[in-house]
Amino acid sequence: MSFSVVILAAGKGTRMKSTLPKVLHPIGAKPMVQRIINTVNELGASSVNLIYGHGGEQLKKALQHNNLNWCLQDQQLGTGHAVQQAVPNIKDHEDVLILVGDAPLIKQSTLEQLLGVKQQADLALLTVNLDDPTGMGRIIREGEQVKAIVEHKDATEQQREITEINTGMMVMGGSDLKRWLANLNSDNAQGEFYLTDVIAMAAQEGKVIKAAQPTSAVEVEGINNRKQLAAIERAFQFEQAEKLMMQGVSLLDPARFDLRGVVSVGEDISIDVNVIIEGQVTIGSNVKIGANCILIDCEIAAGATIEANSIVQQAVVGENCTVGPFARLRPGSVMHEGAKVGNFVEMKKTILGKGSKASHLSYLGDTEVGQGANIGAGTITCNYDGVNKSKTFIGDGAFIGSNSSLVAPVSIGVNSTVGAGSVITKTISDNELAIARSRQKNLGNWQRPKK
Ligand code: UD1
Ligand code: CA
Repeated sequence: MSFSVVILAAGKGTRMKSTLPKVLHPIGAKPMVQRIINTVNELGASSVNLIYGHGGEQLKKALQHNNLNWCLQDQQLGTGHAVQQAVPNIKDHEDVLILVGDAPLIKQSTLEQLLGVKQQADLALLTVNLDDPTGMGRIIREGEQVKAIVEHKDATEQQREITEINTGMMVMGGSDLKRWLANLNSDNAQGEFYLTDVIAMAAQEGKVIKAAQPTSAVEVEGINNRKQLAAIERAFQFEQAEKLMMQGVSLLDPARFDLRGVVSVGEDISIDVNVIIEGQVTIGSNVKIGANCILIDCEIAAGATIEANSIVQQAVVGENCTVGPFARLRPGSVMHEGAKVGNFVEMKKTILGKGSKASHLSYLGDTEVGQGANIGAGTITCNYDGVNKSKTFIGDGAFIGSNSSLVAPVSIGVNSTVGAGSVITKTISDNELAIARSRQKNLGNWQRPKK
């Protein structure tokens, strides 16, 4: 049976205390509603109707790459009224899956199960049992049969004892839904058009109503404030951490791991605490990542070690390289096999050849370093004259003495040597020694000044 989707996202989200519409607040660095749309797309919905009210401009911009029917609900008169806004798009012969925009952890498998239940019924409801059901719509049953949903504010003391609640997610036929929506009224404690009133209508028509449950209550948990946002983020991160551990990654503390994107991993990877992975990251086998590292859109090849407190962004770290602690690889940096970047070294658009080392306190920008070169402590490539960026070339086997400035554009030959403390402004040919510093003068019998 083909089905369309309606996502309710018109609520203001007042309790977020934010200028950003609630459903755009991120979970795993993606707007929460985007996660729901992605899940729905995996299910193969024929169309997705997004009911929106507040922050339309922001929503349309943030969700522009999705194929959505935008349904404006000008005034938020209730969940039933919200679904009514999608009626012009709803086809009689299709099922309609109704979802809420603020419960982003809903699983594809749970929705598949709910759609499956609808195949054996006229209406399928996703319900869950909560220890504290306060505020939620209660599922009223007679025996096994679902008869109605009663909102907390309209419920009797006795009904409030019921712990089975409405998650807000349900499936029913298009023509049924349209007929029931047309009969809603706002004769209730909140003066709203409740979507949940369609359940009693269905029961009165003798329709078969069946319920399904998610594997875990967190899947259907809605986000109303930043405390819940943080809790759902943690639950989401824990889920991702578990998946990685199942793939053979050691996380020293899965509660202190954040993946805000997608990571593909080899085997026997070890990740210490407080590591953040963003965007698209690839990590090869036997890689070790120290505490507090940030990896953004990068590739770390097999056997590499990223020591604590390093940042690698849009860079490639080759096989068996070592990086850090406290190193920063900026966009366009590439380290070939066995290269080493040590503490307080920054690289930008720089290629470090096989086995080359920059072990301490350096800035290498717009530079190509050959194989087996040694970049001494404190070496700076002066790549910027205030207007232009220029390149530095350092040949295979070159040795750059400590505290040297290489003023680009400049080229340093194969196996050449730069004396410590030099300011290099001219080409150095292969096998040459260049010393570019003032000569040392020693004065004898020096009398120190006295007080
Ligand atoms: C709703 C259900 C309740 C259920 C609970 C689960 C109704 C009447 N009640 O209650 O049974 O237990 O969700 O969280 O359906 N929305 C609109 N337009 C509106 C009103 C709401 O788009 O006019 C959207 C909200 O943005 C939100 C969703 O619908 O995403 C649910 O609305 P909310 O006000 O949170 O409903 P509850 O009162 O919590
Ligand atoms: Ca709610």
